[in-house]
Amino acid sequence: MRKIRSQAALVAHVDIPVLLLGESGTGKEVLARLIHKLSRRAHRTFLKVNCAAVPADLLESELFGYEPGAFTGATHAKPGKFELCNKGTILLDEIGEMPPALQAKLCTFSKTSNSRGWAAVPSSRWMFASWPPPTSTFLKPWRPSACAKIFTTG
Ligand SMILES: Nc1ncnc2c1ncn2[C@@H]1O[C@H](COP(=O)(O)OP(=O)(O)OP(=O)(O)O)[C@@H](O)[C@H]1O
Ligand SMILES: [Mg+2]
Repeated sequence: MRKIRSQAALVAHVDIPVLLLGESGTGKEVLARLIHKLSRRAHRTFLKVNCAAVPADLLESELFGYEPGAFTGATHAKPGKFELCNKGTILLDEIGEMPPALQAKLCTFSKTSNSRGWAAVPSSRWMFASWPPPTSTFLKPWRPSACAKIFTTG
């Protein structure tokens, strides 16, 4: 665990996405919170989204929000999680349980957000936690240096 903590301390100071992999209960969320606390975003929000708990077809509006009239029944604007996170750290938990197509979409969103800021959404640091590891669809587009990968072992 000492080695993992020192990895976390290093990653905290580099503002890149983090992928946390490890079996249930090995401390993926604990580590995500630690990295946030040690980072320059510590005074901002830490927001966790359990992707497995949100139905796939609702996840996009949950993350990005919507404007009034965007669909039948949308009577008012709803801010998405990224907007609420507001330059803090957003942990997308259980991404491995999402359908591969949605994982790929999320990956594209996150890279867009990190490189030039998602339209009207302040750029937050992205973290992903997953067990089992996400599909290669999700992992493939990342250059090894563009995302820090940490394995938690408890
Ligand atoms: N290294 C650690 N130091 C302190 N507490 C830990 C550590 N690892 C795990 N725990 C404790 O174990 C519990 C589970 O940790 P955590 O929620 O971070 O695991 P997880 O990997 O996210 O698990 P899951 O995949 O089930 O969500 C927490 O209550 C946490 O307090
Ligand atoms: Mg967890």
